[in-house]
Amino acid sequence: MATRGGFSSKFGFIAAAAGSAVGLGNLWGFPFEVADGGGAAFVLIYLVCCFVLCFPVMVTEIAIGRKTGLNPVGAFKSLGYKNWNIIGKLGVLSGVLILSYYNVVAGWAFGYFLELVQGRFEIGSEFGTFTANFTKVGLYAILFMFATAFIVSKGIASGIEKAAKILMPSLIILILMLVIYAVTLEHATEGLQFYLIPDFSKINLEVVYDALGQAFFSLSLGMGALITYGSYVSKNDNIISSAALITLADIGIAFIAGLMMFPFVAYLLNGNMDQIPSGAGLIFVTLPGVFETLGPNLGVIIGAAFFLLLSFAALTSTVSLLEVPVSYLVDEHQIRRNRAVWLVALGIFLVGIPSLLANGGSDFFSQFITYFGAEKAVDFMSFLGHLANDTFLPLGGLMIVSFAAYIWKKEQLYNEIETGNSNFKGSFIEKYIGFAITYICPVILGMIFILTVLNRFF
Ligand code: PFF
Repeated sequence: MATRGGFSSKFGFIAAAAGSAVGLGNLWGFPFEVADGGGAAFVLIYLVCCFVLCFPVMVTEIAIGRKTGLNPVGAFKSLGYKNWNIIGKLGVLSGVLILSYYNVVAGWAFGYFLELVQGRFEIGSEFGTFTANFTKVGLYAILFMFATAFIVSKGIASGIEKAAKILMPSLIILILMLVIYAVTLEHATEGLQFYLIPDFSKINLEVVYDALGQAFFSLSLGMGALITYGSYVSKNDNIISSAALITLADIGIAFIAGLMMFPFVAYLLNGNMDQIPSGAGLIFVTLPGVFETLGPNLGVIIGAAFFLLLSFAALTSTVSLLEVPVSYLVDEHQIRRNRAVWLVALGIFLVGIPSLLANGGSDFFSQFITYFGAEKAVDFMSFLGHLANDTFLPLGGLMIVSFAAYIWKKEQLYNEIETGNSNFKGSFIEKYIGFAITYICPVILGMIFILTVLNRFF
């Protein structure tokens, strides 16, 4: 295993894992989930999901990874529970499926950056034509996958960690500059009110499980990405404080993204927040319009900066998605990292072709499936999202905590966490994590999983 490599420092690990967590989910997904789910009321539920349910899952994933020093499939085998490696296999499959379409959206973001640099603001009103242009979006997707594979091929410390250490601070600086600008725009107050004052009447069960799905996806949980990253963490690092910092960074950046997005949208809608568009439109259709109103110079700078930011955030996430199947091939099939990276990247790009065609490129993939009882068909990309993000990730999380609590036994988990954190045993955090993974997480994740499957697929 000497050739596996590892993170060079605790900060390097946190930057990489926060980089994995912070992505399209924060800047694209979070604001529109907030818009659909009652503004601040959704935010509150989201916070509860992150801290109460997701934090224990994150700690467990990192601990399993560090204990075994292996990819998610090998990890369960090496603990002596060969059959449980099904969790790892599901994780590798989720990674492949998620990256296959995530890379397409990341390609759009990068494509928008290139369009806005040239001052082509009309791209917002041409979103449908843009996504239907297979050659163009295909090319951007190739470029994005290439950048991802390039970083992963350089290994952990000099690839993934180094990229995160450069991209994450740049992202934070860019986003703060955009927030400062956004809150000075006209109607910013209406946007912020919509975001920050809860409307509890919009809360229903659907909103609750959207919040949980969003939290899982945003924190990169349930597919072994953090088992994989955990396998590169030093035994001296404190898993609890690392997990807390990763969670806070992710929530913080999603929250700040909202401070930027809602004033922008309010500016465009002249403060009429009830007209807020939902879904992908919020970023790809609405925002270019906002940037255009800022005039040709400022508009180009702010608009291009925004889509560059989105691309950076996506890149540190695609890197972690690719690392999961790559580490599996390297550890379990003894394939050289470089070869594994390019092979998997090519394979996932090919798996992503239906997603490339799912937004106007082909009628078949654009109206791929009609769920039982639904009126409208959903496209292939949304279908993958429902399958992988909303179904496989919570299922993976459920299996990971159940494994730790009932099969592997908590004492083993505690021993691993205690390594690098000598105050852990006997602390409140220990009791909380134990209680959460034994009762709260299995029950709630189990219920949500059953409801999601019944609701979506039957
Ligand atoms: N957390 C990423 C985001 O919010 O965009 C997406 C993601 C990355 C999910 C890595 C899962 C994962 F393993």
